[in-house]
Amino acid sequence: MRASLVGTGYVGIVTGACFAHSGHDVIMVDNIKEKVDAINAGRSPIYEKGLEEMISEEVRRGRLKGTTNLREAVEFSDITFICVGTPALPDGSQNLAYVKAAAEEIGAAIEEKDIFHTVVVKSTVAPGTTLGTVKPILEQTTGKKAGEGFGLGMNPEFLKEGDALNDFLKPDRIVYGCVGEGAAKMLREIYAPFSAPVIEKDCTTAEMIKYASNSLLAARVALIDEIGNICKALGIDVRDVAAAAGMDRRIGPHFLHAGIGFGGSCFRKDVSALAWKGGELGVETPILSSVISQNDAQPLRIVQLLTSRMDVKGRRIGILGLSFKPGTDDIRDAPSIVVVRSLLEKGAKVVAYDPMAKENFSKLFPQVSYAKSASEVVASSDSVLVLTEWKEFADPSLYGNKPVFDGRGVTRTANYEGVCW
Ligand SMILES: NC(=O)c1ccc[n+]([C@@H]2O[C@H](COP(=O)([O-])OP(=O)(O)OC[C@H]3O[C@@H](n4cnc5c(N)ncnc54)[C@H](O)[C@@H]3O)[C@@H](O)[C@H]2O)c1
Repeated sequence: MRASLVGTGYVGIVTGACFAHSGHDVIMVDNIKEKVDAINAGRSPIYEKGLEEMISEEVRRGRLKGTTNLREAVEFSDITFICVGTPALPDGSQNLAYVKAAAEEIGAAIEEKDIFHTVVVKSTVAPGTTLGTVKPILEQTTGKKAGEGFGLGMNPEFLKEGDALNDFLKPDRIVYGCVGEGAAKMLREIYAPFSAPVIEKDCTTAEMIKYASNSLLAARVALIDEIGNICKALGIDVRDVAAAAGMDRRIGPHFLHAGIGFGGSCFRKDVSALAWKGGELGVETPILSSVISQNDAQPLRIVQLLTSRMDVKGRRIGILGLSFKPGTDDIRDAPSIVVVRSLLEKGAKVVAYDPMAKENFSKLFPQVSYAKSASEVVASSDSVLVLTEWKEFADPSLYGNKPVFDGRGVTRTANYEGVCW
């Protein structure tokens, strides 16, 4: 099939590269020219294991290319996926400006086309958005009816950064909702090369499945962190507790790693958006609200632990790990931001190392010193905080007798304390 994708961020570029890899012809659209140029040169606009190799291979084969011209991309393709950002507004609702702008531009391009075209919302949007916001925009700009003059679908993405290619190529399930048979046929065809259970429903159910999944995962992390805080006060190790609790098949072992809380661009904004949607519908959501407040407070527990052991004013504090999780250069909503900001406010000098995220982090915190290696951080600091579970931080010999405060359960060293153990 011929597919176009609008937005070359984490979701867009992974989806585009994987569609090309599975035999489709793909054109990526972004309004940032540098990202498009990178793709056309066979480079990845973001870091994800194996992604650059895949992009370079598919560009060389002629199955993947980029453009800043959305009209050209719609003309070239049968189906267009909207993969733009949906950041949170201060009240917790979503900023749909990017989705609306993309829908307007796509609609105008479809209006000029004679052949049937399908538009699919892949961005995470609150239940009701595809039918309530995107559909009217497309109907107005095309002058056609959804399901008749053009196809409309909603296809949430479940990839996790750090293992995104694997998740996309071997998904646990593929979920989409459609207006009309034309869209359903195209979505079946584009996902035909993937072997996974397919859940074909209406658009609002597809949207809600994504929110339910992220809310359940986020709630699990917030709860094990809260349990971890109690374990710490009791002087016991939450990792022993979680391992045993997770052996119960009704609970299972995943997402039971207590620490300094979840980060990333999705969980917080998706939980907030669902709580906001509940409010709009007159449904109370005390659990969703607690997940957010619990997680917002959790990163500071490692600062409280450190300051209960030493006065940090004027001291050099080493930070290992800046990305919100290993395997990515993404620092959006990373706990490291809260921790570093707090340390700087308390008068500490911060020296940090991350194998991937230094460039992104240094744009936010130019006043931090950035080391070239973990051992340089350890050697040049009075105390070390481990904030991301990169494998290279696990080796106890890295730390000698330096005081280490571990926010992720990565290591166990001679002079060591964990945030929840
Ligand atoms: N990052 C994840 O792990 C993940 C996982 C699942 C779902 N999602 C959802 O997918 C969506 C995209 O997330 P992301 O992390 O890839 O976002 P991102 O911010 O990394 O990328 C969005 C891209 O869209 C481009 N863009 C915006 N408006 C445009 C327009 N009108 N025309 C062309 N390009 C435009 C931006 O320049 C940017 O490159 C969000 O709704 C997010 O919640 C993200």
